[in-house]
Amino acid sequence: MKYIETERLILREWTLKDVPYQVEGLGNFETAKNLVVPFPYTKENSIAYITKHLKNSAESYAFAVELKGTGKVIGGTSLDLRDGQYHGGIWLNETYTGKGYGTEVWLARAKFAFEVLKANEIENGYFEFNNRSKHMQEKVGYKIVGKKVNFSPALNQEVVEILTRLTKEDFYNAVQSEKLKAIYDKIKILKH
Ligand SMILES: CC(C)(COP(=O)(O)OP(=O)(O)OC[C@H]1O[C@@H](n2cnc3c(N)ncnc32)[C@H](O)[C@@H]1OP(=O)(O)O)[C@@H](O)C(=O)NCCC(=O)NCCS
Repeated sequence: MKYIETERLILREWTLKDVPYQVEGLGNFETAKNLVVPFPYTKENSIAYITKHLKNSAESYAFAVELKGTGKVIGGTSLDLRDGQYHGGIWLNETYTGKGYGTEVWLARAKFAFEVLKANEIENGYFEFNNRSKHMQEKVGYKIVGKKVNFSPALNQEVVEILTRLTKEDFYNAVQSEKLKAIYDKIKILKH
């Protein structure tokens, strides 16, 4: 199994011990409104998700994001192969947002996709009101490729999702910036 270390985080396989952390993070409306996850997010939802994702495979990677030195899971991210392209999402517990952890996770996830999974591009998206995710995606090189109607369970309404794509080339251009390069250079992909 491969796992990823960034300066302050470890991205590793989920375990059932992480259930309370996932419920705490995704149970928050401010987080959930940006995602397609059940709301309210229950212990049963978390057990079902983690049980399905206990072991990663080339088609489906799900990483718990652990804050180094604490054992606490502060987020999650995934990469799923569908129709020949990697898709997936990212979330952080609201308490831990705005501290640069999201940038570490976005870069770690993309590095893993391009260097380990040998993807040429990855597909993402964000709900049209999610300016923070928009900013993050632009920063690491994502480009807008379309839009579609999705449904937010937390908002209980249809929302417009802006569809985005990150090519390997755009990603490596983005990480040439001094700020991102410093974060990127500390990311290690390891095996246990
Ligand atoms: C999106 C998310 C992963 C970002 O993680 P984070 O740790 O908060 O992000 P960081 O602290 O690394 O960076 C935040 C950046 O967004 C900027 N930002 C914050 N709020 C913003 C807003 N409302 N509009 C535009 N930019 C914003 C910050 O200034 C910072 O920019 P900088 O790196 O250029 O200085 C996290 O906020 C999250 O999980 N949100 C809820 C779930 C979600 O939206 N997931 C993504 C679904 S597409």
